[in-house]
Amino acid sequence: MNSERGGTWAIEYQDVYKAFDVPVLAGVSLNVEEGEMFALFGPSGAGKSVLLKTTIGLLDPDSGDVRVAGHSVYFGGQNKLAEVRRRVGYVFQSSALFDSLTVLDNVLMGIPEDELSSLDRRKSAGRAWEALELVNLDPSAVLAKLPAELSGGMKKRVGIARAIVGRPSILLWDEPTTGLDPINTVAVERLIVQLSHDLETTSLLVTHDVEGGLALCDRVAMLEGGSVRFCGTPAAFRDSNDSVVQAFVDRAAAESALDLVGDPGGVI
Ligand SMILES: Nc1ncnc2c1ncn2[C@@H]1O[C@H](COP(=O)(O)OP(=O)(O)O)[C@@H](O)[C@H]1O
Ligand SMILES: [Mg+2]
Repeated sequence: MNSERGGTWAIEYQDVYKAFDVPVLAGVSLNVEEGEMFALFGPSGAGKSVLLKTTIGLLDPDSGDVRVAGHSVYFGGQNKLAEVRRRVGYVFQSSALFDSLTVLDNVLMGIPEDELSSLDRRKSAGRAWEALELVNLDPSAVLAKLPAELSGGMKKRVGIARAIVGRPSILLWDEPTTGLDPINTVAVERLIVQLSHDLETTSLLVTHDVEGGLALCDRVAMLEGGSVRFCGTPAAFRDSNDSVVQAFVDRAAAESALDLVGDPGGVI
């Protein structure tokens, strides 16, 4: 389906419901346009990660559907799901690397199995090398390392390399800057913008860094109480009359100021 600006929707969440013990997503409808950078905000526990997981079938909604580049994730069968997974790169919250695998093997987990089996070891290592260079890591220094030998910022970059190595057209970023100091946060946010531009991907960015998300993204949405409380431009988000949105923006601005005060190398 086409967006109101005449573009194509990269991701369509259509009335998505998901409950565990209690309802988490209670009718989420949201569309992300091809090529845009879209930020998703919301309080902790709002269901942001759950929503991202429904995009590639890691969690099934109780009802509703998700469409990726027009393919239904839930009504298209296994072939369509495999097709969706090929198109989508996923940067997991807290990197989620495999502790016992080297950086090389962790990155290669991002290439779909059927494609990986068609590549010889030299070619696949070349793909991992390329992906590590794109995230500004020195491949020769890190390929043989285990995650435990890397800093937090480097682990995030390896997680990003794994998400891009499959050459996706859509990138899902789940809190890629959580746990990073302000300087690394800015560096990773720059990387997100640069990769999305250079690889020509659509990016859906879940972030607690509201100021960063507002500065980087074309559109933003806020998930609250199981549904989409706001969806629009960053300027409209800042100017929203909705008291819930206002309280969220004010709290985020205060947290961002505290972050800077707490950082000896920060702006203040
Ligand atoms: N696999 C799961 N099993 C049970 N409950 C879950 C599962 N995944 C998430 N939840 C619950 O769903 C709610 C939303 O979680 P999540 O999407 O991780 O929130 P956030 O917006 O912080 O990313 C939380 O209450 C969480 O405990
Ligand atoms: Mg989360």
